[in-house]
Amino acid sequence: MIELTVDGEPLRAPAGQSIAAALLACGRAALRPSPSGEPRGLYCGIGICQECRVQADGRIVRACVTPVAAGMTVTTGVP
Ligand code: FES
Repeated sequence: MIELTVDGEPLRAPAGQSIAAALLACGRAALRPSPSGEPRGLYCGIGICQECRVQADGRIVRACVTPVAAGMTVTTGVP
């Protein structure tokens, strides 16, 4: 298990798990807002649609194909 920070809160997740899986495991399905403000989250799960964009250590990444890392800082809600 490793620890990262998500929106300012600590989160423990298995090393190698995707950011999206770690967030789903703790009940967080909404990752960002649509242009009209509706919650968006996982859709394809394979890195194609980009619906799962989050910011990780200052970079916009696809949460479904980006593994968690110790000390990583993740911010959701990025348009
Ligand atoms: S859910 Fe489609 S790219 Fe992540």
